[in-house]
Amino acid sequence: MAKYRIAWLPGDGIGNDVMEAARIVLDAIELDAEYPHGEIGWEFWVAEGDPLPERTIELLRNCDCALFGAITSKPKDEAANELSPELQGKGFIYRSPIVRLRQLFDLAVNLRPCKAFKGNPLNYRDDIDLVVFRENTEDLYSGVEFRPVPDELNDVLSRNNKNFERFADVPAGDMAISLRIITKSASERIIRAAFEYAKKHDYKTVTVVEKPNVIRETSGMMVETAREIAREFPGIELWETNIDAMCMWLVKNPQNYGVLVSSNMFGDIISDLCAQLVGGLGFAASGNIGKDLAVFEPTHGSAPKYAGKYKVNPTAMLITVKLMLDWLGEEKRAAALYEAIARVIAEGRIRTYDMGGSDSTLDMAHAVSDNVKSLL
Ligand code: NAI
Ligand code: MG
Repeated sequence: MAKYRIAWLPGDGIGNDVMEAARIVLDAIELDAEYPHGEIGWEFWVAEGDPLPERTIELLRNCDCALFGAITSKPKDEAANELSPELQGKGFIYRSPIVRLRQLFDLAVNLRPCKAFKGNPLNYRDDIDLVVFRENTEDLYSGVEFRPVPDELNDVLSRNNKNFERFADVPAGDMAISLRIITKSASERIIRAAFEYAKKHDYKTVTVVEKPNVIRETSGMMVETAREIAREFPGIELWETNIDAMCMWLVKNPQNYGVLVSSNMFGDIISDLCAQLVGGLGFAASGNIGKDLAVFEPTHGSAPKYAGKYKVNPTAMLITVKLMLDWLGEEKRAAALYEAIARVIAEGRIRTYDMGGSDSTLDMAHAVSDNVKSLL
């Protein structure tokens, strides 16, 4: 039996292209693993009305972790129109399978490192080394939303909140409410994960990115929790910055920051900004980490126009593999893989289209796999 069981979830679109690249590299480093295939993505929505079939959930229950490519998602109505004819009108509602996975398996920590590679022509600056910790299960992405607003809810809000009074007479159908739910325990979990990472990897600061002056209760609780947890980590400084100002500072002085921690939506926003500072979606890796399961994925989507063309940059996926190896405790292989990616980028002989070249996804994967063998 192999040492690890890693669910193999290519999804659709360029998910397949980059997973093929991942496999080339995993084979080169001879990880002792088996990779059972799991079905997820648009194809299964269209054919079965569920982009994350129960059999895939079952598979995940029996794996150490999962490697995931990308999936196509569409808004509710558009998705319903594309269902196969026999499923139309039967009440199937599209929900993003990745959001579902995060909630179902309580993958509370979303880890998104954004470090500039030497010699990457796409770097905004060469000295950027940011790591975003994004809470992954709550906030405005909890899915607790109302449209129309039920009368009972309107009543409760009118009676309990002065600020709601001016909305109380808006007709139910003319108003939408999405709840920003944040719990103390999830706040503690993400903030502690950020501090522990900073301690382990020698970052001097953790910046909590919220907006407590305006969103006083939810952001207020996040910042308060950050202050409490910071006391357990005397060597690391806590910085507090508002989300809007943070976007400005990240463009002005990104090199001044280290670990960033935020709630789900603000974390989503800053992690795209951070990704672009180090070369864009072709360089942005992530881990969704829970207690019993972790799902590793590049942050890009399925980029349908490039699907199957082997044009996109697999670096995001290869760094994702590196994060998975770290999590599995395969630190030597992880470090070798990262070094191999860095060398190939620094040498500059292989460049995918986003870096101004015309080499393919698999050319890049082969260059990294040739390189990594000499490092192990
Ligand atoms: P996208 O990330 O798929 O692609 C946007 C553009 O970024 C591409 O057209 C391409 O120019 C560039 N790009 C993406 N990955 C790249 C790579 N590895 N190398 C070089 N360039 C790359 O985002 P888009 O177009 O907004 O969404 C396409 C589909 O993907 C949608 O259905 C969306 O819902 C879904 N999506 C899925 C995600 C996931 O699987 N976790 C995340 C984001 C979007
Ligand atoms: Mg995003």
